[in-house]
Amino acid sequence: MDYVTCRNKIESLANADSSDIDWLFCEVLKIKRSELARIKIIDKTDYKKLVYYAKKLKRGMPLSIALGFTEFCDNTIMVSSKVLTPRFETEELTSLVIKEILNNPKPVKVLDLCCGSGAIGVSIKKKCKSLANITSSDISRHAIKFTKKNAKINKVDIHIIKSDMFKNIWGHFDYIVCNPPYISYGDPEVQKNVNEWEPHLALYAPENGYKFYKILSQQAKNYLFVGGKLCLEVGHTMAKTVAQMFKDNYATNIIKDINGIERFVIITKK
Ligand SMILES: C[S@@+](CC[C@H](N)C(=O)[O-])C[C@H]1O[C@@H](n2cnc3c(N)ncnc32)[C@H](O)[C@@H]1O
Repeated sequence: MDYVTCRNKIESLANADSSDIDWLFCEVLKIKRSELARIKIIDKTDYKKLVYYAKKLKRGMPLSIALGFTEFCDNTIMVSSKVLTPRFETEELTSLVIKEILNNPKPVKVLDLCCGSGAIGVSIKKKCKSLANITSSDISRHAIKFTKKNAKINKVDIHIIKSDMFKNIWGHFDYIVCNPPYISYGDPEVQKNVNEWEPHLALYAPENGYKFYKILSQQAKNYLFVGGKLCLEVGHTMAKTVAQMFKDNYATNIIKDINGIERFVIITKK
């Protein structure tokens, strides 16, 4: 079948964003996005695969979950509806930490708290290698399973611990990186397919979304070296309130993401 006919059929079947359709073609045809324009013919086997995934997208399933993986900091990270698909903003936070470790190359201990798929810890380890000793933890057994899987496929050695926040965590860290659940229940801004397909344990938090920041403000100091940093991702309206929670004993710095949103709060233990 010619590409244009196939593309039209898949687009009308999937009823999804055209960028998702681009990625779907790239994954099925095993090509780069820049090579899409050169495709003229789609063979029968690839067409069947495209229809299979298009039917999933039609049900509202996010592309990462349909494919079973996403790309994060140049790494392949396996996901499903049981763990959060790591987002672009989290790549920014991870890159920030990687840059800091590589700019001041001495061995550091890093805790990836609320690790989900394991994307943050796996990516830091992959880039910083022996400079970073990584512990990744989460309360969810699915998150633990996916973190183990992602460490294995990315060939990195990290410690993986099932823990309710700090309960099973011992010792001190140079960096605690955390993207906790922070959406308040009933938030009308949450997209329907996110609410339907991603784990609520990863999305929602009591106390208007602030519960985990509150726990961190009370307990992180017991797990950070002096000069150690707690690197947080926060909801798009939360940065100032979160920074305020850490005003005693810490220095705080709010950083904007690529879209100019106050998205990260970096908290240094004095
Ligand atoms: C927003 S997701 C972040 C996942 C991953 N770090 C990322 O950025 O893609 C939050 C994670 O916190 C975990 N979580 C929820 N409650 C927790 C708790 N009490 N203790 C530890 N982890 C928890 C969820 O299972 C989920 O994996």
